[in-house]
Amino acid sequence: MNIIDIIIKKAKKGELSEEEINYFVNGYTQEKIPDYQMSSLLMAILLNGMTRKETVYLTKAMLDSGEKNDLSQIKGVTVDKHSTGGVGDKTTLVLAPLVASCGLVMAKMSGRGLGHTGGTIDKLESIPHMKTSLSPEEFFKQVNEIGVAVIGQTSELVPADKKMYALRDVTGTVDSMPLIASSIISKKLASGSQIIELDVKYGDGAFMKTKEDAKELADLMIYVGKQLNKEVKAVISDMNEPLGYAIGNSLEVIESIETLKGRGPADLKELCLHICAEFLVASKMYDDYEKAKAFSLHQLESGAALNKFKELVKYQQGDVRCIDDYSYFKQPLYHYEIKAPHTGTLQMVKAMQIGHASMLLGGGRQTKNDIIDMSAGIVLNAKKNDFVKEGQLLATLYSDKKLTKEIENLVLTAFVYQ
Ligand code: URA
Repeated sequence: MNIIDIIIKKAKKGELSEEEINYFVNGYTQEKIPDYQMSSLLMAILLNGMTRKETVYLTKAMLDSGEKNDLSQIKGVTVDKHSTGGVGDKTTLVLAPLVASCGLVMAKMSGRGLGHTGGTIDKLESIPHMKTSLSPEEFFKQVNEIGVAVIGQTSELVPADKKMYALRDVTGTVDSMPLIASSIISKKLASGSQIIELDVKYGDGAFMKTKEDAKELADLMIYVGKQLNKEVKAVISDMNEPLGYAIGNSLEVIESIETLKGRGPADLKELCLHICAEFLVASKMYDDYEKAKAFSLHQLESGAALNKFKELVKYQQGDVRCIDDYSYFKQPLYHYEIKAPHTGTLQMVKAMQIGHASMLLGGGRQTKNDIIDMSAGIVLNAKKNDFVKEGQLLATLYSDKKLTKEIENLVLTAFVYQ
């Protein structure tokens, strides 16, 4: 077998066999196939697609490229969720303690942010001293004792995805349904949880720009999961605007804590309650969705989920004082106010521009090795359908850097009037 023949076959819209797919995944992971040939193949896949059968083979080959978590020593029903990525997406920070407070187990491995999207692990690390890397023994002990742990993905899980995703990121080949589906499902299967829920986002700040595309991606991932013997569920959610009002690492943790205290934004709260209820039904703890959702709401409103978050932070050695006193988070040097240029009703606040502006303020990475300013980001004061008066505060920007015209314009023009 030869990589050039495989590239040419895909460039001519051919269907690759399981052997050919195994060959290039293993060859690339073991560094026998160089980046330039893999880039060419990824571009051929992006342009010509893959059949469902090829996507299943690709997912399996990626899954088999590394170790798989064995969660069988964990007591209870293990659940996991994955978001396809967005702006201000802090769902895991609320959902993980919420589901654990309901009696389910979330042994979660999460990623870091890149570009305009944030990552859960970076957000958690804005909590002073929070450890996001645990030994397998510490991880299992914590999960068995408190029902929740959130740590960074280890390099042993799906090394093929680690290498391929990094290459896709710099070769314009992220935006391909079979590549996204195989990347996500291989990681979720390797993580080993019994129940998987995917949060497939659509809109301005998401990979999938339309609801139809998000549904197609969700269907593909559910299909691939089923072929590999895993029941996968999916929710389709709107990412035209950021989720909630806060964008940036510590700002998002604070908004999550507010949500756990019962004062969070409606969109974030609703998404978390919905996913939690789906887990409770899928795990057979409840047979009725509405009752499951009412129980989730009770756990949120009673403070049970907040207490679980405190336990999570304490177990991972974070400074729990910051949960009640936000001044324990790193504070930014500057803040800047963006005011409404005229009176009117807002049609939307473009997520992509806000995410990009937050990254430029220091809240995200432009390249993999950039260091994040944990306090940098944006807090919105208005969103879709809000009526604003000229001069009214639209957003506050936080940073250790001086504000540039580029960032100011990105934020100002993200606010689209009806
Ligand atoms: N998230 C992933 O984990 N992989 C992709 O390919 C896209 C989004």
